Amino acid sequence: MYILGIESSCDETAAAVVADGRTLCSNVVASQAAEHNLYGGVVPEIASRRHIEAISAVASQALEQAHLTAQQLEAVAVTFGPGLIGGLLVGVNFAKGLAFSAQKPLVPVHHLRGHIAALYLSHPDLKPPFLCLVASGGHSHIIRVKSYTSFEVLGRTVDDAAGEAFDKVSRTLGLGYPGGPAVAKAALLGDKTAYQLPTPKLAGRYDVSFSGLKTAVLNLINQASMQNKPICVPDMAASFQYRVDEILAEKLLLAAQDFKEKVICVAGGVAANEQLRQILTEGCEKMGVQLYLPQLRFCGDNAAMIASAGYYEYLDGNLAQDDLNGVATLSIDYR
Ligand code: KG4
Ligand code: ZN
Repeated sequence: MYILGIESSCDETAAAVVADGRTLCSNVVASQAAEHNLYGGVVPEIASRRHIEAISAVASQALEQAHLTAQQLEAVAVTFGPGLIGGLLVGVNFAKGLAFSAQKPLVPVHHLRGHIAALYLSHPDLKPPFLCLVASGGHSHIIRVKSYTSFEVLGRTVDDAAGEAFDKVSRTLGLGYPGGPAVAKAALLGDKTAYQLPTPKLAGRYDVSFSGLKTAVLNLINQASMQNKPICVPDMAASFQYRVDEILAEKLLLAAQDFKEKVICVAGGVAANEQLRQILTEGCEKMGVQLYLPQLRFCGDNAAMIASAGYYEYLDGNLAQDDLNGVATLSIDYR
């Protein structure tokens, strides 16, 4: 059963074909990151325009590379939220037109459900239930994945998302966008114990917070500049990265312990962070818990994950009507 996935919720225009939710047939991603880097972050208006320009060719390529026509698809799946509304509207309207013209069902996909489905593409044996940290540019959630289409949020960020914090600190340190890979690269040459950064105290047992950490970095930079002292960028990058990764890993492992979870997963752009992967690998080994990490090519935004999630939504009878719209804010347990 072939599903074409379409993704345009942030700064990647992507289309992909996946067979039976698990087998990748094609995966096309047109990234706008280089252009947004000029402005230090994603400019929504530019993102929408680039999606409009790219989406038709990207979808055609995905079908071509899978050696399929639209007629051979079972359904078209599209990210309808959450995300930047302009980008979502481009994807949703394109997918609607394609599904209508090919007379195929249209499947609405929640972006974070897509990130979780990236794990199904990476691990043929992985099945729910499991515990999953989803950390991206817009979200940091600890989620119980009860089935392919049923989710319970145990904890979340009370302010900035982990990826957002990486992006903001990267900009402050002059390292560019996207911030996660830039900070990780700079951190390779740094000492993670060089700067003392705070750990937030939070009411929610599985909640996280990164805004204070980001402000602490900013304050240290400002103080140094007032005293005419240099900041060591690799040391700051390493100290910041280590603290973010520690916070994420600690909360995820705490939830795993409390709920006696035996299978833990990580998804989203921040799942590409090598140090986070290492900390969790060691932590899970100690706890005797099985850890599944997504392949690096499926961590960031792509449409293969949307096609995979779309397959399970389709089997569950989640079909869009003609009035499907993009939704900027949408909880993962919306349905
Ligand atoms: O999931 P994603 O591609 O898009 C959203 O849904 O937001 O996540 C993008 C985020 C960005 O904030 C980016 O800086 C972060 O993921 N990211 C990383 C790494 N690679 C990407 N953060 C930390 N370490 C990385 N290696
Ligand atoms: Zn994403």
